[in-house]
Amino acid sequence: MQQHGELVVVGCGIQLGRHVSERAVSEIMEADALFVLSDAAAFDWIAGQRPDAIGLTDCYDDGTDRRETYRQMTAMIVDSVRAGQRVCAVFYGHPGVFAQVPHAAIEQVRCEGFRARMEPGISAEACLYADLGLDPGTRGVQSIEATRLLAYRHRLDPTALVLLWQVALAGNLACIGFEPDPERLQVLVDKLSQWYRPDTPVILYEAAQLPIEEFRADWMILADLPTARYKEYTTLVIPPAREVERDEHWIARLEALD
Ligand SMILES: C[S@@+](CC[C@H](N)C(=O)[O-])C[C@H]1O[C@@H](n2cnc3c(N)ncnc32)[C@H](O)[C@@H]1O
Repeated sequence: MQQHGELVVVGCGIQLGRHVSERAVSEIMEADALFVLSDAAAFDWIAGQRPDAIGLTDCYDDGTDRRETYRQMTAMIVDSVRAGQRVCAVFYGHPGVFAQVPHAAIEQVRCEGFRARMEPGISAEACLYADLGLDPGTRGVQSIEATRLLAYRHRLDPTALVLLWQVALAGNLACIGFEPDPERLQVLVDKLSQWYRPDTPVILYEAAQLPIEEFRADWMILADLPTARYKEYTTLVIPPAREVERDEHWIARLEALD
């Protein structure tokens, strides 16, 4: 049976005020309860329209495993839906892109018989294609979280564009703290050497969060990553490093159909 109470998860984009959709604004204004996970400036902007907005950023602390923090955030949202409220949860960027809490909250409330849906937002990846002039359709794209790449036997394709998310926290298996660690970044460089030479050009990318900021696109070589400068929201971009070969076998199969 459909229960009273519902959840809509929306994205507010990366750049304050400019990326938020009309649909997201109307959900923000009409909700009974509003939760927000964003940078401080975006939170202030939302709280300007909705002074009752609850900031989820306060759940973070330097000594707690982030997976536990995400469980707390999910529980806050789900409890509010259970209380019969129309809940809106706002997340920066696209709420469904590299974001555990929105997916977990939606799954949980649906399991309990409540309505839940997600509205898309402009992700860091969408900004990256615009700022760096890269088209994922040209060579294909692989997008993966940096620590996940280290911990699992994923395979990268150096003929495609590769995006490594949360690179500042690469190798932080404990999920505690937010500081980059040069030793762990060196482990990342070592693992990447399976596919790339140490002098491969890479980009550290940061989309602008404020309209008055410029985006950051610092080119460097792969070997220099351990000593580079990072923010929590830096993304590592590895442009295609090798030519891709035509697959004559399959082309011949297709041509035989002409
Ligand atoms: C937990 S994910 C959240 C992504 C977000 N949901 C989105 O749609 O972009 C955090 C990671 O996204 C990327 N990211 C977030 N904001 C960014 C920005 N302003 N510029 C570049 N990358 C960003 C970074 O890789 C960062 O470590």
